[in-house]
Amino acid sequence: MKFFIDTANVEEIRLANDMGILSGVTTNPSLVAKEGRDFIQVLKEILEIVDGPISAEVISLDAKGMVEEGLKFAELHKNITIKVPMTAEGLKAVKVFAAKGIKTNVTLIFSANQALLAARAGATFVSPFVGRLDDISQDGIQLIRDIADIFNIHALKTEIISASIRHPMHVTESALAGAHIATCPYSVLERMIKHPLTDQGIERFLADWGKMQL
Ligand code: E4P
Repeated sequence: MKFFIDTANVEEIRLANDMGILSGVTTNPSLVAKEGRDFIQVLKEILEIVDGPISAEVISLDAKGMVEEGLKFAELHKNITIKVPMTAEGLKAVKVFAAKGIKTNVTLIFSANQALLAARAGATFVSPFVGRLDDISQDGIQLIRDIADIFNIHALKTEIISASIRHPMHVTESALAGAHIATCPYSVLERMIKHPLTDQGIERFLADWGKMQL
């Protein structure tokens, strides 16, 4: 499983990229609004840092508007991936982008059927939202498992991005369930690095080294 970072914060993207773990970036309108910066400028800066798919989400609700917005993003770079919501209009837009060879990420996926439809429309990625399903007492990881099984059975090439990741266990479980990618907030990546026994181990090694008499 590969890692994308789920943020529009350029500094966090730089930090994760420097660790050599990053294969791409996902943003959404809420994450972009949080930064309060010009989105095109943010995308240009991300493109300078990461060489991999960078999802830019459209806000139009009709296919025509989505295509117009998406084409503007796509002209920035071939790595730009147009993120569209899982609606009938979104699927129409995916079909247009796919015909032009532009990558798409169908977002707000909450059922296996939605993922299957998005894949058939030509989506490069689907983003099932694990955390938001868990929030309403539904099993987000089971959805990842179901989509992975269906895509395997039918040899669909669309990649599964496990999204709405809230904690490190979501990451482990997504990997076991067959997600191709987990898109994680920077805080989750930080918590994944940490283990108290690693910290204790370093302390003990340094203490022992300090006692050594030559
Ligand atoms: C996915 O691409 C979305 O940006 C994101 O994972 C949504 O997560 P949230 O449920 O924490 O807002």
